[in-house]
Amino acid sequence: MYLTGEEESIVQGEKGKAMQKAMKILTTLGDIYDADRLIPVKSAQISGVSYKTVGEAGLRFIEDFSKDERAKVSVPTTLNPAGMDLSNWGKMKIDEDFADKQERVIDAFKKMDVTLTCTCTPYLSGNLPKFGDHLAWAESSAVSFANSIIGARTNREGGPSSLAASIIGKVPEYGLHLKENRKATKIIKINFEPSDMSEFSGIGIEVGDIVGDGIPYFKDLRLPSIDHGKILGAAMAASGSVALYHVEEETPEWENAIRDDLEVIEIEREDLEFRKDEDKPDLIYVGCPHASLEEIREVSDFIENISGLSSDLWVSTSSGVKELASKQGYVEKIEEKGGLVITDTCPVVAPLENYKVIGTNSGKAAEYLPTMNNKKVIFDSIKNLLSMVED
Ligand code: F3S
Repeated sequence: MYLTGEEESIVQGEKGKAMQKAMKILTTLGDIYDADRLIPVKSAQISGVSYKTVGEAGLRFIEDFSKDERAKVSVPTTLNPAGMDLSNWGKMKIDEDFADKQERVIDAFKKMDVTLTCTCTPYLSGNLPKFGDHLAWAESSAVSFANSIIGARTNREGGPSSLAASIIGKVPEYGLHLKENRKATKIIKINFEPSDMSEFSGIGIEVGDIVGDGIPYFKDLRLPSIDHGKILGAAMAASGSVALYHVEEETPEWENAIRDDLEVIEIEREDLEFRKDEDKPDLIYVGCPHASLEEIREVSDFIENISGLSSDLWVSTSSGVKELASKQGYVEKIEEKGGLVITDTCPVVAPLENYKVIGTNSGKAAEYLPTMNNKKVIFDSIKNLLSMVED
């Protein structure tokens, strides 16, 4: 891979050990994927933030970077969800030892001048890219959103490569940074009109299974809002590893995205698999990916009409969106009925010792909670889930 004189000097260690390590991560990736050069990014979003997922080794890796005074981010950079609500972890019944380790992870990022917004929806919290921007984002659902709904360009970075890119401000140019790699690999024809977010999630699970790491092109699908695109993309990234999709006449790069010879797969409503369980959920979880203002309003509207909750309810979101929701009175309405609006985290990356059966409207959460958290899952619409636990 071609390196400029300045990039070469960083590889030689002239700007310190952390910069050298960061540059080596990027050049190694570039060599593996046959990139010609490094290109500048407009922003970075770092994964590997929850102490539950990174453990001691990850904590040491991040702290080691942060000890070098010259290891500072050079582009706007935010974080993926941490393992707890950073200001209200007591309400989540997180133990003190975990909280202490999690705070050390966050402190290390703070030393590197990372913006401490811990969310999988940075585009709803002040980090909104433009069409054609190159990014170094790591969270799979955010990568899908940036590529598909916005038309920005990012590969799905890992924790170390997103950190390295945030410091150097560049990524190797390969994969989805190149226009020729952004064409569809299969056409997906939807033969029904999905009615709510859980059905968009269900479609995502089914299509991710079918296309794997390919690029689906949807026909006959309308996206009623960006939230529907967000939850659809998150599910495809979880059941497969879809990082970009196109929707005919809806998403910014749909024109010229298909060839005549692509396989067409038809999806019927009966193909969607909703997971039910005999048990009642002991936690209802909404906000995977992190809830928008509109989704929080929807929960608050539902909950206003029920007398109380016989199970816990968590709505996870970013701190910025929670502030807006609070101004509108939505947070208070949810919390009056015993629900909790949590920020900075999500149940998939938080320790969830107190719950066995979790109800969610998110296909991504329904995919991950049984494998990463060993939980039973009920996957259904918010309305059905809340009616199951109405007191
Ligand atoms: Fe976000 Fe956690 Fe879901 S990171 S996409 S809320 S699994």
